[in-house]
Amino acid sequence: MVTEPPSQAQVLVASNRGPVSYTLRDDGTLEAKRGGGGLVSGLSAIGPDADAVWVCAALGDGDREAVRRTGGRPDPADTGGQRVRMLGIAPEVYADAYNGVANSALWFVHHLLYQTPLEPSFGPEFRAQWASYETYNRAFAEALADEAADGAAVLVQDYHLALVPGILRALRPDLRIGHFSHTPWAPVDYFRLLPDDIARQLLRGILGADRAAFLTHRWADAFTACCTELLGGTGNTAIGVHGLGADGDFLRERANRPDVDERIVTLRGQIGRTSTGEERKTIVRVDRTELSKNIVRGLLAYRLLLTDRPEWRERVVHLAFAYPSRQDLAVYREYTAEVQRVADEINAEFGTDDWTPVVLHVRDDFARSLGAYRLADVALVNPIRDGMNLVAKEIPLVSERGCALVLSREAGAYEELGEDALVVNPYDISATAAALHEALSMPADERAERAKRLAAAATALPPQQWFLDQLTALRA
Ligand code: G6P
Repeated sequence: MVTEPPSQAQVLVASNRGPVSYTLRDDGTLEAKRGGGGLVSGLSAIGPDADAVWVCAALGDGDREAVRRTGGRPDPADTGGQRVRMLGIAPEVYADAYNGVANSALWFVHHLLYQTPLEPSFGPEFRAQWASYETYNRAFAEALADEAADGAAVLVQDYHLALVPGILRALRPDLRIGHFSHTPWAPVDYFRLLPDDIARQLLRGILGADRAAFLTHRWADAFTACCTELLGGTGNTAIGVHGLGADGDFLRERANRPDVDERIVTLRGQIGRTSTGEERKTIVRVDRTELSKNIVRGLLAYRLLLTDRPEWRERVVHLAFAYPSRQDLAVYREYTAEVQRVADEINAEFGTDDWTPVVLHVRDDFARSLGAYRLADVALVNPIRDGMNLVAKEIPLVSERGCALVLSREAGAYEELGEDALVVNPYDISATAAALHEALSMPADERAERAKRLAAAATALPPQQWFLDQLTALRA
């Protein structure tokens, strides 16, 4: 049950990736694609008549062309009625801010991804990228200042926009400003890999908000610890925690549409049956090909399971869906290739004429992912670190087989799901293999019981309520 919106005053949302993106077709027309995710459904909670503006960046050539043709105000027909202001930031500035600072330095710091004997080194190249990050943040702050009515509430999203609250506060002291981090927050010693002045500037930027919010207490505490160590405290900024949950109603309905049924027919063919005619068990994972998701160690754990527990050979299939992400970065392209290589190796080592141990799909297909969710006996979610990980919440909800969850203790979702999941250290592939065995061997009634409790915990704070809670707290 969603409570009423706190008031009808204006709401602005700012995020790098907006609710719509464009591709330029060969005939010169633009094709609009609407995005999904927690923020889109969250914002819907304030109702279609609310005064809301979503400020986002043009991400690629299609978006930039749309900005040129519409003056940065996409046609509401393309956005489901949402008012959007899309910023056409110069491509070089954008690439530095998004790839260089946000997705390399900041993402790597918060997800502990550096191999420190070699990386990072912050020299002149990084300083130049940092200047672009400042420009990009300033462009957002100025657009927000320009769009905002008196006393509006502004909800700034994520590590791309850490400087926005501070800049916006100086431009428009009348606004209520919130910042939300969808990532983990680094422990102090790791955060201090960043140059000192930049580390302070990032913290001060977020502290420009009236309220800084996080997905779990662990990340909120880490942020507070960094502020204490580098700035002596969090000043007047309130710190909040809102653990985004899965959208149960939407997922259950969406997962039962005909396009998903169709994918299930194909998937069942790929899973196949054992020599005695039983349908094989499934281990399912769905991620972006993202370094922090730990897909390679997941595959290595599965290989270990097949090596050490030969009784599972020909009786289980690993459905691994790993969709391309951030492929402008060489390290992501290499990681994607490594995922493919290890999956091929496992298939070459163990596969038989009618059993493919790993079914790896690299093309994004939401209906197929939902099909795999429905057929999941075991969900494997083993990130090195993750702000929340909604897949961990979605699979137990949608699975028709009462699925068991193997979950990394480093995922934000662990805070809510830890009790009923089989919890692993994501670096320990032996323990992960053992957890996969335990999950596959779990008696059906225990699995069903746990899945029921997991589904309840997963939907404790659906996106609409998650959004309204932030707005209420910000205006309090
Ligand atoms: C994470 C971030 C989001 C980001 C998403 C996809 O969930 O917290 O801000 O939008 O990854 O990454 P991308 O770089 O494709 O937007």
